[in-house]
Amino acid sequence: MDKILIRGGAPLRCTVAIRGAKNATLPLMAAAILAEKPCTLHNVPCLHDIFTMDKILSDMGMAVEFTGRYMHLDSSSMNSVEAPYDLVRKMRASFFVLGPLLGRFGKARVSLPGGCAIGARPVDIHLKGLEALGATIRIESGYVEAEGALTGADITLDFPSVGATENMIMAACRASGVTRLSNVAREPEIVDLAQFLNTLGARISGAGTDLITIVGVDALSGGEHTVIGDRIEAGTFLLAAVATHGDVTVQGAQSEHLTAFLGKLEESGATIEIGANRIRAKAANGFEGVDITTQPFPGFPTDLQAQMMAMLSVAQGVSIIKEMVFESRFMQVAELLRMGADIEVDGNTAVVRGVKNLSGAPVMASDLRASAALVIAGLIAQKGETAISRVYHIDRGYERIEERLCALGADIRRVREG
Ligand code: EPZ
Repeated sequence: MDKILIRGGAPLRCTVAIRGAKNATLPLMAAAILAEKPCTLHNVPCLHDIFTMDKILSDMGMAVEFTGRYMHLDSSSMNSVEAPYDLVRKMRASFFVLGPLLGRFGKARVSLPGGCAIGARPVDIHLKGLEALGATIRIESGYVEAEGALTGADITLDFPSVGATENMIMAACRASGVTRLSNVAREPEIVDLAQFLNTLGARISGAGTDLITIVGVDALSGGEHTVIGDRIEAGTFLLAAVATHGDVTVQGAQSEHLTAFLGKLEESGATIEIGANRIRAKAANGFEGVDITTQPFPGFPTDLQAQMMAMLSVAQGVSIIKEMVFESRFMQVAELLRMGADIEVDGNTAVVRGVKNLSGAPVMASDLRASAALVIAGLIAQKGETAISRVYHIDRGYERIEERLCALGADIRRVREG
């Protein structure tokens, strides 16, 4: 198991290229199941979660060729509609193959994903929506057994779940008739998926709004698509810049995908400059506490809550952070306290009182974004060394993070352990 060692205090400077979005690439790969001709995805990030989805599709017989930047997918050799427990439990997004399998082949056997560090993460909204499209759903020994010809329907989601919206869009592409989905997720990754599916011949309109209309078609062909930049990775680097009183420009992310987040950074006192395909953040004179409430897009993204908490732990003043999307997404708090932060949690609310500085300590990563928060805390700590264990959590969502932070001036390295 690797460890990441950080000696903090250096302000981060310069420019970093943002990779393709993990949370766009995963549903795009699943959508290739619907394509009856080969597809090519460009700007694919080189991450563990991408390799896991590659394995799931390859085990179903899909031909996947990944060069580390572009990915070629050909579903003509698919010979299975099953996604096994040992892979799905590793990565919840594997569940996104359910909708396209149903849409293309009329049946699917996909393991229930189970919970994870940030919550129980049920899939009831996914299953209710697919049943509304006419699928018969049975739960058998921890697997969802789904089958049936799909018919368009008007469906309102109980909650704008990103994954459920994606599963239902992909299934509805091949339903007979028209499907109208309301109270859907509006994340940029949904828009990216709809654009790719329309390239393949689907007829989707309204992605990015709270009403999506899908006119079912008899088949989808092949095509090419470039994955959008990873807004969460971009936000993570911008937070690291502000937290270290640095000056960093991220290239390859779209500022309109981060409006609520950038507004909060500016409210805290950081200077934000927006250019074509680039965002610059600097905070030479420090920053103040701000209140954050996470919401589905276009609200403040839950995937940047932990990283923002790390930065606010050394802000001037108090910040109130409310996590409204997941039931337990404060896994980073216990570790931040060990580094000298002053944080009190009551249910889904954390009160963060800014301290002068943090000090390095051995800490343990627990989930992807909590781990990113520990990296930011390590970059802040001017005393001692921070040693982060279980860094496989970080590698799921950030490509070579230590190399890219090192290029911005951080004293950070990865050591092999054991
Ligand atoms: C996606 O997860 C992202 N993952 C998550 O990013 C992100 O945090 C989340 O959306 C919210 O933005 C990918 O896109 C691969 P949800 P997803 O369904 O689709 C509840 C990261 O760090 N819910 O929108 O699983 C659920 O429990 C990851 O990159 C139900 O109750 O999220 C949660 O409380 C973490 N029933 C809330 O909705 C359901 O059927 C939001 O979940 C589905 C969800």
